Amino acid sequence: MIERTLVLVKPDGVQRCLTGRIIQRFEDVGLKIVGVKMTWVDKEFTRKHYAEHVEKHFYPGLEALLTVGPVIALVLEGVHAISQVRKMVGATEPRSAQPGTIRGDFAHVSYEYADGKGVTLKNLVHASDSLKSAKREIKLWFKDDELHSYKTVHDVHITE
Ligand code: CDP
Ligand code: MG
Repeated sequence: MIERTLVLVKPDGVQRCLTGRIIQRFEDVGLKIVGVKMTWVDKEFTRKHYAEHVEKHFYPGLEALLTVGPVIALVLEGVHAISQVRKMVGATEPRSAQPGTIRGDFAHVSYEYADGKGVTLKNLVHASDSLKSAKREIKLWFKDDELHSYKTVHDVHITE
């Protein structure tokens, strides 16, 4: 039940200086940061990360967005962390994302608008969508010795 998941604050989130506020939300619910780095990825790496989307119409814009500046990559750990983080991130389309979610609170653009402009949706964060993708993505972004096991005060709260 204790899972690890990959989260990226994408370049739009870093450039809007929202990194701290986004990470704060995950810390607030008791998720543990077990890995973190700032890195600027290239097109080849982006194709590996978004392998499932390479053939889709929105891929060129997505690749442009992910490579335009550095990202903050995080591995978060906690109970049902994968679905918990997806819930906190909200729907892919900011227009549809509920208030209280990261995308719903910090963005508002629609598919229709982004497609009309020929740009990708700037929705601030990426989060693994399943156990299988979390495992694959964590391995892609982090070496084993960049991930850490340690105790937080939340470990006491959730086990006692
Ligand atoms: O990020 P998430 O898992 O919610 O969505 P996805 O379907 O895996 O798509 C990956 C990313 O591609 C999204 O977060 C958007 O930035 C972008 N995208 C887009 O610009 N236009 C679409 N129609 C679908 C996705
Ligand atoms: Mg996805």
